Amino acid sequence: MYDGGKILAGLAAFLALALFPFWEPAVGGRVARPEPKIVTAEKRCVRPKAEMRQSHMELLVSWRDSVVRQGQRSYRDPEGKAVTMSLEGTCMRCHPNKAEFCDSCHTALVVAPTCWECHIEPKERA
Ligand code: HEC
Ligand code: HEC
Ligand code: HEC
Repeated sequence: MYDGGKILAGLAAFLALALFPFWEPAVGGRVARPEPKIVTAEKRCVRPKAEMRQSHMELLVSWRDSVVRQGQRSYRDPEGKAVTMSLEGTCMRCHPNKAEFCDSCHTALVVAPTCWECHIEPKERA
């Protein structure tokens, strides 16, 4: 069986790498480098920042698979705290500023996750 999500994620990763020579000078040069704005008072993400920056898409896919295929919704963060695996309920609760946060990177790098066809976008608040 084909896993559309994995194929798309792989394709996105490949494109990001393949296009690196084009967007790297662009973000370093004339086009503003994306500055995703953190609005939560919390100090930490569910994984270390560098890891989130690099592989939040894989984490999201593994959360989805765990919830949808195993019915397992509880995730342990690096401090051992239990976190509910939820895009809307967890990620977007700390990052409700989707446009300024998620989209500021995605738009700059021309990725457009299709999650919001089904998942509900947070009401924007800055
Ligand atoms: C620091 C920049 C940055 C931020 C902030 C960011 N993303 Fe991303 N995101 C990326 C990049 C770059 C890619 C695609 C390249 C790759 O796969 O390595 C991506 C890809 C994704 C994908 C996979 C897209 C696909 O079609 O396979 C999902 C899902 C995603 N992001 C969700 C989110 C969500 C939800 C947020 C906000 C809570 C967010 N991202 C915030 C940079 C960011
Ligand atoms: C408890 C609040 C909280 C939750 C839940 C949370 N984040 Fe974060 N996130 C943060 C904070 C705070 C930072 C900045 C951490 C730092 O500066 O060390 C961050 C950083 C990030 C970054 C890196 C941004 C950058 O500038 O490089 C990405 C991407 C990200 N989060 C995506 C997500 C996604 C996707 C989820 C759900 C899987 C999620 N976050 C869940 C609070 C949260
Ligand atoms: C065709 C509709 C659809 C699309 C598109 C979609 N999802 Fe989902 N997703 C669902 C459904 C239905 C569930 C199961 C809801 C539940 O059981 O809580 C789910 C559950 C999830 C969960 C775990 C439960 C939760 O509350 O978040 C995550 C994480 C998730 N999806 C991430 C994503 C990401 C990331 C994308 C985009 C790359 C995406 N989904 C695209 C329909 C979709």
